[in-house]
Amino acid sequence: MSYVVGIESSCDDTSVAIIDLDGRLIANETIAQTKLHAAFGGVVPEVASRNHILNLQEIFIGLLARFSVELSQVVAVCATGGPGLLGGLIVGVMFAKGLALSLGVPFIAVNHLEAHLLSAKLEHGDFDFPFLGLLVSGGNTQIVIASGLGSYKLLGKTLDDAAGEAFDKTARMIGIEYPGGAKIDELAKMGRGRFKISIPMRGSKTLDMSFSGLKTNIRRLVEQELKNCSVLNEETVCDFAFGIQNSIATVLEDKMRGAIELYMSRFPDYRRVVTVCGGVGANSEVRKRIKSLCDEYGFSFVSPSPKYCADNAGMIALAGLLYFKRGFKSDIDFKPLSRWDVFQPNC
Ligand code: KG4
Repeated sequence: MSYVVGIESSCDDTSVAIIDLDGRLIANETIAQTKLHAAFGGVVPEVASRNHILNLQEIFIGLLARFSVELSQVVAVCATGGPGLLGGLIVGVMFAKGLALSLGVPFIAVNHLEAHLLSAKLEHGDFDFPFLGLLVSGGNTQIVIASGLGSYKLLGKTLDDAAGEAFDKTARMIGIEYPGGAKIDELAKMGRGRFKISIPMRGSKTLDMSFSGLKTNIRRLVEQELKNCSVLNEETVCDFAFGIQNSIATVLEDKMRGAIELYMSRFPDYRRVVTVCGGVGANSEVRKRIKSLCDEYGFSFVSPSPKYCADNAGMIALAGLLYFKRGFKSDIDFKPLSRWDVFQPNC
């Protein structure tokens, strides 16, 4: 048996995966640094890099032993090459290069955004190009037409905050610790539509989005509430969670409706498939809305389960495997890229 190793260290998750040449994920282990960064209200790059150094070797050696994988069975080593926090990327890329060099196998630098877009393939082997993708994470919000490996056209993007950032920043305003997205998802289930919360850029023709106005909207509403009490009560927090989630999900639903219509008119022969990926892709309301859009337009909804929406090395190993199978390898002097645009501007 031969295996490809994947390494992810672009933000605050240290993750290592082992995949076989048929795309079956053998192992995928992540050490999340969430607690370390929560005290700072966001990821501190230097703290993240130092912890990647501590975690990487431990996870890798542990996986080899637990899954009885010999180094001689590793035929390629892939790592996130960007975009992301440079310090963390350097740690992962240098580890991968060292391993690849010592084993005499190819090193492959993987684009993190491309890996997210392909992550549904980890659980759905028949998921293939072409497809329409919504990538929503803590740092990215993009709608993309994926025509083939390395061939992506950008239909729309956020003009300011990413959807995950909007969740996290507004969550903080209502007293939820960073990162607040998953907690908002949970609390929204107990909330009601009590607050009038804006739906940014609703009705505009562009597929671009904006989430920064939502912060001002929530800040004002919270200030108003706090005129009558010193802290928000549980019911109010749930009602805010409901409103925040409804606003973000409605923006994404509106824009994806436009994207689906554009996709059908420009590419009538393309497969009718939508994927939603990235951390916010785990959001129950976002998934529900996009799934029902898919039902309405006769598209299949093929998305990674929530555990593979978040940053993980499984998706890096998988994307690397697809390149490996095409005979691609990166230069050993590849330099990690904090910005790495893989999506071509509007088609
Ligand atoms: O893709 P990801 O793991 O990494 C980064 O982009 O860094 O996404 C993290 C983001 C955070 O903003 C987090 O709050 C958000 O995904 N997130 C969610 C949910 N789970 C994670 N947002 C809304 N609902 C969720 N269930």
